[in-house]
Amino acid sequence: MKYSALLVSLVCPWFLYFSLVIEHRPKNRLVEITIQEDLKERAFSALRDKCNVCHAAKKKTDIFTLINMDSFAPDIHKQVFVKRKMPKGRKIKLTDDERNQLQVWLDETLIEK
Ligand code: HEC
Repeated sequence: MKYSALLVSLVCPWFLYFSLVIEHRPKNRLVEITIQEDLKERAFSALRDKCNVCHAAKKKTDIFTLINMDSFAPDIHKQVFVKRKMPKGRKIKLTDDERNQLQVWLDETLIEK
């Protein structure tokens, strides 16, 4: 809170209440959530186009969805960025954009868990 807001609050205690409410208004939180959802959806597009296309045709592989992808985040990170095994083969490659989208989503998701 700003120093000036604190001074006004000495005169009018209600102002303290309002300035605190305004500072923590849920709108900011909503914007945050929307941005996160957006990051996730973009990462999912990459998983759908470059991973599910092949996994769907194989046994013993997982199909990524918007619902389960967070729980696969550590595995996806390991296979794509550490071991660099996925996407498997030479035909399917991630574009720079797709890599970035996955990286940004993984950064968010792996920190939280
Ligand atoms: C061309 C086929 C193909 C593509 C494309 C592909 N995968 Fe896979 N993936 C496989 C196969 C087959 C396996 C089973 C294990 C193996 O053979 O290596 C697998 C296994 C995995 C596993 C489990 C690893 C383990 O063995 O524990 C993860 C995680 C994974 N893939 C992530 C991805 C991600 C993320 C992408 C996209 C960026 C991707 N894969 C793209 C074929 C593919």
